[in-house]
Amino acid sequence: MSDILIRVLTEEETRAELPTLAEILSDCVEGGASVGFMQPFGPKDAVPFWEGVAVAVGRDETVLVVVEVDGRAVGTVQLGVATMPNQPHRADVKKLLVHSNARGLGLSRRLMEQAEAEARKRGRRVLVLDTATGEPAEAIYERFGWLRAGVVPDYALMPDGRYCATTFFYKHLSA
Ligand SMILES: CC(C)(COP(=O)(O)OP(=O)(O)OC[C@H]1O[C@@H](n2cnc3c(N)ncnc32)[C@H](O)[C@@H]1OP(=O)(O)O)[C@@H](O)C(=O)NCCC(=O)NCCS
Repeated sequence: MSDILIRVLTEEETRAELPTLAEILSDCVEGGASVGFMQPFGPKDAVPFWEGVAVAVGRDETVLVVVEVDGRAVGTVQLGVATMPNQPHRADVKKLLVHSNARGLGLSRRLMEQAEAEARKRGRRVLVLDTATGEPAEAIYERFGWLRAGVVPDYALMPDGRYCATTFFYKHLSA
């Protein structure tokens, strides 16, 4: 039996987890996930991104959720709450990442449930995310109750350089 723990990290804790978070992001990009970065993308390439996340956590602009299995972080998701003044009730869900060694265990569901709980705590009841069209993650958001807003063709690149469409989803949280 594995010990699964969900944590919301402070800035200091984020900095302490930088190598592990970098390994998770690198693993996902090298595995072909379109999450903002191009291949080749080793763990060292991922460190500056997580340093920026740590700063955003310290400024209360980002809520960083991680899932640990047996004491080691293997997955993460972020809630972006640095919205404009006319969107105090909205947040962006970003960078849902589970290391390839830990997939299929229900960890992304746990991460998304925690992200929603963190949104509720902050009065953020309208959530938005986007994901590469046709990739595995697209199907899972519908399983988690998200609604499809639409598709933008050629919105981004896959890590290998091909253009990819992006699907935008939203979810209204009940009170
Ligand atoms: C997408 C990702 C986060 C899923 O993580 P995971 O922990 O393996 O997912 P879970 O085990 O929690 O599965 C969640 C649900 O999706 C389903 N699912 C999982 N992988 C799937 C796949 N490849 N295709 C279709 N459904 C899938 C599961 O059956 C489960 O459904 P259920 O809870 O109703 O039974 C993971 O594959 C990943 O990190 N991919 C690379 C990064 C990425 O693409 N992130 C999304 C960015 S928008």
